[in-house]
Formats: sequence, structure tokens, C-alpha cells
Amino acid sequence: MSIEKILIIGAGQMGSGIAQVMAQAGITVTIRDVTQEFVKKGRSRIEKALARSVDKGKLSAEEEAAILGRVNGIVTLDEAAADVDLVIEAVVEKLDVKSDLLRQLDTLCPERTILASNTSSLPITTLAAVTRRPGKFVGMHFFNPVPVMGLVEVIRGLGTSDETIAEVGALVKRIGKTVVDATDMPGFCGNRIVIPMINEAVFALMEGVASVEDIDNVAKLGFNHPMGPLALSDLIGNDTVLSIMEVLHSSYGDSKFRPCPLLRKYVAAGWLGRKTGKGFYDYASS
Ligand code: CAA
Ligand code: NAD
Repeated sequence: MSIEKILIIGAGQMGSGIAQVMAQAGITVTIRDVTQEFVKKGRSRIEKALARSVDKGKLSAEEEAAILGRVNGIVTLDEAAADVDLVIEAVVEKLDVKSDLLRQLDTLCPERTILASNTSSLPITTLAAVTRRPGKFVGMHFFNPVPVMGLVEVIRGLGTSDETIAEVGALVKRIGKTVVDATDMPGFCGNRIVIPMINEAVFALMEGVASVEDIDNVAKLGFNHPMGPLALSDLIGNDTVLSIMEVLHSSYGDSKFRPCPLLRKYVAAGWLGRKTGKGFYDYASS
């Protein structure tokens, strides 16, 4: 089956980025969120990114219009799910929210539809088990910002079929990204590495080892990372970083994955990073 119609659930930073790269590859996408306002916000994120490319001369105005013409927005789930080849779920990193949604999608989608989750850490096998199609269930883990990052981890649940892995792998290649096959272990490969690094940076801040700026300077100037771990946490969303650490901690039962109390404090205060205008840095004016 060639994947031509995609439904993306969640029009946040990941959902809108995934929609953008699919539409750029000529695929028709529908983005769905809980309110029209969220759908609009997701679409305007795509519009801004494309407008930047036009300004830089990397995209023509005709190409921009054609890409935007392939992005539809919707709020009602049943209408959106009725005729799709692939659904990519990109809602908040909460097991109960994802499970409820996937159960509904399993009922609403045609038999041919592949269900994929962009979860950062939740077990693909557990998510697949709430559906009656584990063979057609897979993890597609994109990296942020999706239009820029070249990697998609493809995660095979216990029941995922070879056919599903092949179809999803072909799609990832079609959008110009590289597949890394990861087994269904908590955090997969990427987040097993990067999220504990961020958590450790928050411990360093809490213990007064260095300031926010200097911790990030160490990574930028000392390791040549494009941005420091605290700025990266703000980009990912401190709530998402905490959710991932909690999954790593509870799944492995290893104290090396304990979330830093300061990270919990930031999330409790609503200092989630760029998306709320405040995190380790202030984004009020940007
Ligand atoms: N959406 C679309 N395009 C974006 C973008 C966004 N949000 N942010 C930046 N870009 C584009 C810019 O338009 C620019 O494009 P051109 O080269 O075509 O001009 C390019 O990216 C570089 O951007 P900037 O010059 O503005 O900024 P920069 O050079 O500082 O790069 C960055 C910004 C790409 C975010 C870079 O700092 C970076 O790579 N940071 C690390 C990101 C990272 O590690 N991501 C993985 C996080 S972990 C994860 O995603 C998994 C998980 O489950 C949590
Ligand atoms: P976000 O907070 O930017 O967006 C989540 C969106 O989901 C919101 O717009 C919210 O309204 C919507 N939503 C919640 N419940 C919904 C439902 N039932 N139906 C439709 N929409 C619903 O979050 P994000 O950063 O885009 O993360 C989304 C997923 O992608 C998470 O599972 C996260 O772990 C994963 N992920 C995040 C990153 C990252 O760097 N932020 C990277 C890779 C994967």
C-alpha cells in the first residue's frame, strides 16, 4: 500500500511539524486537535515556517500555496478517521490520553489503516494492546524541530508486522529522513541518551554548579552541541522532559533515572519552556 492520506492527531509543535514535512513531500494531511483554536495555531506554525523559506528564496510562492493546499484542519475525529492510510498520534505524553484516543481510532479507522505513535517514551507494545490491530501498530518517533531534524526512530512493538515496518520505512525515506530501527525499550534509543543528559543539567543547576547560561555554554562551546541542554529542555517542553524521565524511572526501576526535583518545580509552576513563554529562559518578547 502506498501511503497517500495521513491523519495527524495533535496540532502542537510535533504534530504541525510532521504535517509540514508530509505536505512538502506531496502527501495530503489532516491535522486534528481538540479545539478549532489549537488546529489554527498548528496551521499558523506551518504557515510561518513556509513563509520563512519563501523569504530566504528556498521555496517559491507557488510551492508554498501548493503545500498549504495539502494541509487540512479538523476537530471531529470520526470524519477525519473515515478514510486514511496512516494515523500519526502526537498528543501529550500521557498514557491514559493516548490509550483513549487509540481505542477510538481503532474503531473509527478502516481496516487498512496503520496506527503510529510519536510517543517519546511510552511502550509501543502497551499502546498497541488497546487496539485490535497490533500488526498495524508502530512507533514513529520524530525529532524536534521536525522540518530540520533528519532522523525518525521506527519502533517495532511485539506484534508489529514486517509489512507495517516496510511501509512506514518507505514513507520516512520519501520525506527525506533517515530511519533508525529501535527496539521497544523505554526511551527507545534517542531519548535514553538525551533526556537523562538534560535531567543531569537541571541537577547541576539545582546544586549551583553553574548558571543556566554557563551550563548551556559548556555544551555549546565544550561539546559543539547546537544548543545547551537547558535551552533544549525549553524547546522540547519541560513537561514532556519530566514525563519521559518518569517513564524511564518507573520502567527501569533504576535511581539513575530519577527526575530532578527542580524540573518538577518548573513544571508545577507552569514554566514549560517556549510554549508557555517561560522556562529556564524567558521568551516573553520572542
Ligand atoms: N521549525 C522549522 N524550521 C526551523 C525551526 C522550527 N521550529 N527552528 C529552526 N528552523 C530552521 C531555520 O528556519 C533554519 O533554516 P535554514 O537553514 O533553511 O535557514 C535552520 O532551522 C536553522 O535555524 P536558526 O538559524 O534559526 O537557528 P539555529 O542554527 O540555532 O538552529 C536548531 C536551531 C535547529 C533548533 C538547532 O539549535 C538544533 O539543532 N538544536 C538541537 C535540537 C535537538 O537536539 N533536537 C532533538 C530534541 S530530542 C527530541 O526531539 C526527541 C524527544 O522525544 C524529546
Ligand atoms: P504539545 O504540547 O506541543 O502538543 C500536544 C497537542 O496535543 C496539543 O495541541 C493538545 O491540544 C493536543 N491534544 C491533547 N489531547 C488530544 C486529543 N485527545 N486529540 C487531539 N489533540 C489532543 O506537545 P508536543 O511537544 O507536540 O508532543 C506531542 C507528542 O510528541 C508527545 O507524545 C511527545 O512526547 C512527543 N515528542 C515530543 C518531542 C518534543 O521535542 N517536544 C519530540 C519527539 C516526540
